[in-house]
Amino acid sequence: MGEPFGRLAVVTGGTGGIGTAIARKLAADGYKLVLHHVADVSRAMRVQRELGASVLDVVRSDLRSVEGVEAIIASVSTVLSEHRSVRLAGLVNNAAVMLGPGLREARPEDFDEYFAVNVRAPFFLSQRLSEKMGEGSSIVNVSSVAAHFSSPGDIVYAMSKTAIEAFARHAAPALAERGIRINTVVPGFTDNGHPAFQLAEVQQRLSSFSVLGGVAEPSTVADAVAFLLSETSARTTGTTLDVSGGGALGSRPAGGMSLRDLARRS
Ligand SMILES: NC(=O)c1ccc[n+]([C@@H]2O[C@H](COP(=O)([O-])OP(=O)(O)OC[C@H]3O[C@@H](n4cnc5c(N)ncnc54)[C@H](OP(=O)(O)O)[C@@H]3O)[C@@H](O)[C@H]2O)c1
Repeated sequence: MGEPFGRLAVVTGGTGGIGTAIARKLAADGYKLVLHHVADVSRAMRVQRELGASVLDVVRSDLRSVEGVEAIIASVSTVLSEHRSVRLAGLVNNAAVMLGPGLREARPEDFDEYFAVNVRAPFFLSQRLSEKMGEGSSIVNVSSVAAHFSSPGDIVYAMSKTAIEAFARHAAPALAERGIRINTVVPGFTDNGHPAFQLAEVQQRLSSFSVLGGVAEPSTVADAVAFLLSETSARTTGTTLDVSGGGALGSRPAGGMSLRDLARRS
């Protein structure tokens, strides 16, 4: 009998705050990885060093452009041709332009940017990479609880996350024909290493968004992603898994301050 195939997973924004936790968890679960990022080269090098042989490639590309999507597809093609014992089993659409802009200040170019990175890139990565996937593979999108309550100061971000959730719902039947699942994880406030998360005032305010209180660790999101990629969720597709601590249930703090403004107060 030949060697069993290794599972390859692609993680966009895979060296960011939550992305690093996802990459760590998947590496620990035995996946080989293609990690993607755009700006923070030293952070990407650190993660690559830490995860060693689990990382088969790191792609740096800007998902505002179609070329940025193509660069990831090209990397996966190269990795699959160079590592014959590996099969593409997972895609995690995690990279995003974060929070803002508000109803009053949003410009058409903001719309283009948020929807290119947060919606168009996950759509075409899923479309194209699913062609390289076999039965039992799984796609996981990372949304935000901001899609589930009203935050006028983050309207474009929130709308883009609403769209990515709709994407999984509508793509699931077509992907199911090929035995591929697609789901969405919905994080609430999660400490991604941004300095704002260290401030007591910010922590307290963010905590008040969740009925369970507190701010999540990135591993909370990573565990949910790993579950949706795994065989354990073999009967789950086209749905959302909320790990926001009940962030869509409770009352909202008063004041109408945008989440982006809150983060900027660090
Ligand atoms: N942290 C939270 O409280 C929270 C809450 C709800 C949902 N989320 C979601 O969780 C996911 C990860 O966010 P995070 O908190 O880990 O933030 P983060 O640390 O800022 O990570 C964002 C990632 O996206 C990449 N990225 C940003 N703009 C890009 C572009 N134009 N092209 C390609 N890649 C781009 C970044 O690349 P570089 O590393 O190279 O900069 C980074 O890896 C996002 O989808 C976010 O919406 C986060």
